[in-house]
Amino acid sequence: MSQRNVAPSFSELDKLSEEDFNFFREFIFKVAGISMSEKKRDLVVTRIKSYLRKGNYSCYSDYRKALEKAPIESKEVQTFINLLTTNKTNFFREPDHFNFLSRLVSDVNPNRTTDYRVWCCASSTGEEVYTIAMILKRYLPSTVDFQILATDIDTSVLGKAQNGVYANECLREIPNDFQNQFIKKGHGEAAGWFKVNDSIHQKIHFQQHNLNSNEVPEINLFDIVFCRNVLIYFAPDTIKNLTIKLNKALKPGGYLFIGHSEAIRDTNKLFKQVEPSIYTKI
Ligand SMILES: C[S@@+](CC[C@H](N)C(=O)[O-])C[C@H]1O[C@@H](n2cnc3c(N)ncnc32)[C@H](O)[C@@H]1O
Repeated sequence: MSQRNVAPSFSELDKLSEEDFNFFREFIFKVAGISMSEKKRDLVVTRIKSYLRKGNYSCYSDYRKALEKAPIESKEVQTFINLLTTNKTNFFREPDHFNFLSRLVSDVNPNRTTDYRVWCCASSTGEEVYTIAMILKRYLPSTVDFQILATDIDTSVLGKAQNGVYANECLREIPNDFQNQFIKKGHGEAAGWFKVNDSIHQKIHFQQHNLNSNEVPEINLFDIVFCRNVLIYFAPDTIKNLTIKLNKALKPGGYLFIGHSEAIRDTNKLFKQVEPSIYTKI
């Protein structure tokens, strides 16, 4: 592997050949199902350039050759995946979903004997999963316990999510009554940062998972799956396979939430739509 420690000159990184660009596009599609059109060239250049500038490889072709040789499970391939994912997220993003979730879990039978289970399957840096956990803690009958699985393909965002420390500027995304009930603000060296309470944190299990694989974490187990704002990166066939997989993971009658601008390709009629971007398993 031609790794080196001297940063390449800027001019070496100005040009990305058609061949190298096509390799990077095809490779991210193969490993993560992320479909990148010609229009994503600038994004690919910006993301990979920043990595090469740190002195990792002397040019795009050297990086490409290293990836061609690297095993799929290697650190090098994982770094590539982490570079090319887009992780934008917020607390209480698409708030209609959380209003619906509050009503849904308020109606859960208080005599239920099994834990309520949620899978947040593209959890990014964690804001979405902590929002779900705060809603469950507040609205699920106190006699029912819950567990949440938070997964993402990107190990770097997963680490941040698990750590669960956010800058105070994100507090504006969280309604005051939720802040008062669930947020712990930092002091001293931690001033300017906050965490969600431990009682919430301990309900979430973080794990890497690739949605572009046939594996399903659990079958017929989840009451709810949140799969929001990730379908937009996938090709129609990938969405079709994923729809089948998410259906397997849900209990009959379980709910699937997708992003407001997304659609599932439900050719097998596995789901019934109950609200825009909310479905139940038939
Ligand atoms: C734009 S973020 C959405 C985060 C959150 N769900 C939300 O709606 O705010 C998309 C996330 O999907 C993840 N992702 C992309 N491809 C994936 C795959 N094949 N398997 C699992 N996660 C993936 C990315 O790493 C990223 O964190």
